[in-house]
Amino acid sequence: MREYLGLPVAAGAGSRGDAGETIRSRRRDATGVPESDTVALDIDDEIATITIDRPDKLNALNVETLEALRSAIAEAENTGVRALVLTGAGEEAFIAGADISYMKDLGTPEAQAYAELGHDIARSLETFPAPSIAAVNGYAFGGGCELALACDLRVAAENAVFGQTEIDLGIVPGWGGTQRLPRLVNDEVARRLILFGDRIDATDAHEYGMVGEVVAHDQLDSRIDELTADLAAQPQFAVAAAKEAINQSYETDLGAGLEYEQRVFSGLFGTPDQREGMDAFVNKRDPEFE
Ligand code: COA
Repeated sequence: MREYLGLPVAAGAGSRGDAGETIRSRRRDATGVPESDTVALDIDDEIATITIDRPDKLNALNVETLEALRSAIAEAENTGVRALVLTGAGEEAFIAGADISYMKDLGTPEAQAYAELGHDIARSLETFPAPSIAAVNGYAFGGGCELALACDLRVAAENAVFGQTEIDLGIVPGWGGTQRLPRLVNDEVARRLILFGDRIDATDAHEYGMVGEVVAHDQLDSRIDELTADLAAQPQFAVAAAKEAINQSYETDLGAGLEYEQRVFSGLFGTPDQREGMDAFVNKRDPEFE
């Protein structure tokens, strides 16, 4: 992956394709992982949409699906997209969690490997060099909720239901829920959701700060299209810098975070987008970023 100012930058950054250019790709062999029928990657005009496509199991994530998801995220990153959308196939589920049928007989070493795989994917969404958006179109339980939490933004359809339901299975969240949920909602809410395994609707999730907005189910795609189009028009290096700086605020102490911010702020000066944005302002015109 390319770096700019010490920040990860998607390959192809700064060379936006022609408007309307569409690359449609099903995950393929190039990554070295066998093809999957349960994860689809679509790239359209520099926006990647990854769809978990296992609706008969409410898009529950078995190992094959997780590995395909990991490859799809890597492929989207290598392609150099300006936003990544994660969603689920069908009318009912975003992702109904880790695959319970697979997990039920695991011992500790296998469970550790499964946790590492889920964590790896959550982390790749969190550190993806462009904004990631969870388009939550139904059940988001357990690992599904955790992957949504790892995205930068969450948009929920009215029928979405959220839950860290692992406690009902005699376990705890294993793909980041105990760490990311308390950072997103208040501590009491996080503890209640995790300790009781409560399932909450989109309205409550919005009230608690778990999702940024709730839209009618049939409006979800168009709202995601609006958001991704807006993101695609933003200055890409600045967006990457902003995302990374915000992420740093959760991972370092305040002094180190403030120092990091100064570095990325000053480092953006001299970039074409900085010059363009400020020239557009002083000349009273709209900026056209690279
Ligand atoms: N893992 C494996 N399979 C799952 C699953 C999961 N997390 N969630 C749903 N499925 C499967 C069901 O086993 C069922 O498969 P089958 O038709 O072969 O029996 C299919 O998906 C449909 O689910 P079903 O329970 O029949 O649908 P429902 O509409 O009655 O209930 C839910 C939907 C989401 C409320 C229910 O499936 C559920 O509670 N799932 C588990 C959620 C969970 O605890 N996730 C956290 C895992 S860590």
